[in-house]
Amino acid sequence: MSHQETTRRHFLTSSVALGAAALAAADAKPLGLFAEGREVLKVGVIGCGGRGTGAAVNCLDAHPSVRIVALADAFQDRVNSCRDYLNQIASEEKDKYGGRVDLPPERCFVGYEAYRQVLATDCDLVILATPPGFRPDQILAAAQAGKHIFAEKPVAVDPVGVRKVMEAAKILDLKKKGFVAGTQRRHQKPYVEMMKAIGDGAIGDVVSCAVYWNQGALWHKERTPTMTDLEWQCRNWLYFTWLSGDHIVEQHVHNLDVMCWAMGGPPSKCVSLGGRQVRTDAAFGHIFDHFAVDYEWADGRHAASYSRQIDGSAGRVGEYISGTKGHGWAPNKLAAHGPKGAAIWEYKGGNYTDPYVQEHMDLIASIHAGHPLNESRQIAESTMLAIMARMSAYTGQEVTFDFAMNKSSLDTFPKDMASGQLVVPPVAVPGRTRLV
Ligand SMILES: NC(=O)c1ccc[n+]([C@@H]2O[C@H](COP(=O)([O-])OP(=O)(O)OC[C@H]3O[C@@H](n4cnc5c(N)ncnc54)[C@H](O)[C@@H]3O)[C@@H](O)[C@H]2O)c1
Repeated sequence: MSHQETTRRHFLTSSVALGAAALAAADAKPLGLFAEGREVLKVGVIGCGGRGTGAAVNCLDAHPSVRIVALADAFQDRVNSCRDYLNQIASEEKDKYGGRVDLPPERCFVGYEAYRQVLATDCDLVILATPPGFRPDQILAAAQAGKHIFAEKPVAVDPVGVRKVMEAAKILDLKKKGFVAGTQRRHQKPYVEMMKAIGDGAIGDVVSCAVYWNQGALWHKERTPTMTDLEWQCRNWLYFTWLSGDHIVEQHVHNLDVMCWAMGGPPSKCVSLGGRQVRTDAAFGHIFDHFAVDYEWADGRHAASYSRQIDGSAGRVGEYISGTKGHGWAPNKLAAHGPKGAAIWEYKGGNYTDPYVQEHMDLIASIHAGHPLNESRQIAESTMLAIMARMSAYTGQEVTFDFAMNKSSLDTFPKDMASGQLVVPPVAVPGRTRLV
């Protein structure tokens, strides 16, 4: 299936729950006031690929006050495809989206810095869905501009970037602006209820976790003769650490976030292994294709993490949580230890709203209530767990959370993008690549 087909199918899947979710939101919550006393929530989308377009639809589905009013992408074709798709659903599904997509050419911006033009509009909220390497600067600029933020995960790819997000967190608090991250498990009813049960002592004290994102290879795009190094890397952003953080950061952050949630906070250190065993062609940049991590908490608890993108290998995506009295796979069932352990807790909450919509509903409801959610520190910490594990695997060294958070000078962002020339860094070699 092509990327576009997958994307289209994802939009459609997400839309199923939509009508109901938006109506429920409209019934339950009176409209609040946004900028200049308006009763509509103006939204700008920065990064108009699969997820940016999908998140725009999810946001429309989350509350009837939402209007999509501005777009930005590095490339004209991605702006066009996003704008065309949103205009199409607005004309085909008038009852749901009619009159809610307002994207004249003067509010559709192109270029690596085009996000600044979206921030200069009167939008209230921005959806940030570019490759993650750009995210810290965009989050900081959006916070400074006084926008509410929905930011896709991960929020950074290196320690310098994480610190920018921590700086933005303070600004958001001061300006009373909201921030929700695209770690949708935090807004998925079974996860929320399971974590509440665990917090209430269902499995005793949580003593360990094992978390996984093992799957096959992902998409990549052929280089054309007109592409600069920069465009080629940005169009294939998954495979360059400065853009994606490597797959442990880009993808496995979801499961590491759940691990952090279950264990009650971040670990104090980790040791990781990893390598580039199968996906070795230069078309796949310089990232690894597998990682295994041992995280250790200050009180001596451990958790294991495994992530792999290798075709033909066993797949597993999920989180296993173990406590002194019981254990289970998130988010549906917890049982007592032993081969026939009795069920301790089971999700019985029935159908629930698509978490990709629920996360926007929760953000908008918190804005209406006058107490905007601010998840920026939480996702910055979870992002750092993935980054510190990558740093450990690349260098072969143990990495502490304190070093990564407070001392590391690692800044992977290119110093000069203007020329379009960008050398691919060498593949990291544990024992030789330096920890900085
Ligand atoms: N929460 C989830 O389940 C989930 C699912 C998929 C993707 N994501 C995340 O969403 C983000 C985007 O992923 P995607 O699958 O949409 O990728 P994508 O390649 O489809 O879209 C990224 C878009 O950003 C654009 N872009 C690149 N640099 C830019 C810049 N400087 N300014 C503006 N636009 C720029 C690209 O041209 C592209 O259109 C990633 O962080 C990814 O991890 C989250």
